[in-house]
Amino acid sequence: MMDWTQLKKTCAGCTACGLCQTRHNVVFGVGNEAADVMFIGEGPGEQEDLQGEPFVGPAGRLLDDMLSIIDLDRKKNCYIANIVKCRPPRNRDPQESEQDACIGYLHSQIDLVQPKIIVCLGRIAAKRIIDPDYRITRQHGTWVNRDGIWMTAIYHPSALLRDVSKRPETFDDLISIREKARELRACV
Ligand code: URA
Repeated sequence: MMDWTQLKKTCAGCTACGLCQTRHNVVFGVGNEAADVMFIGEGPGEQEDLQGEPFVGPAGRLLDDMLSIIDLDRKKNCYIANIVKCRPPRNRDPQESEQDACIGYLHSQIDLVQPKIIVCLGRIAAKRIIDPDYRITRQHGTWVNRDGIWMTAIYHPSALLRDVSKRPETFDDLISIREKARELRACV
């Protein structure tokens, strides 16, 4: 298994899919590398590509506000990464082949962080991490345990910017994440 230094170096030079040709930065991940709670998004957008950090655009500001409701902070007690590490042009969905090329990095990040809880942000991450048939509208906020890790999904912050009517349900899901963390005596 690679250590953090090796993994970051390998990722930074990755040419495993076509997204490497248009990227400005590989967006590896951010946060506490020993966090109990890990968030997984879909892929970098424009600001993330330019700055090399996940969730730093408009959706990222909302994500930080959501995290603060349950006492989470990317600088302190959670880790944030994406399914694909390079920006898909015009923010299109990452293709299956691009996800396949990149997913090993995320699995290595999960192995290194060893989170107690994984929260998928949006449908793309939930389908890839929890269940290929995941239905975000029906299943958000529900929990499954996979290999000792508790997993759930919530609406993607970009979806919450487009459709504020989804916010109350997401508030309930955030509270459920805090409850699960308390149950597991996770550091939050
Ligand atoms: N959307 C994502 O899924 N990930 C990011 O890092 C930014 C926006």
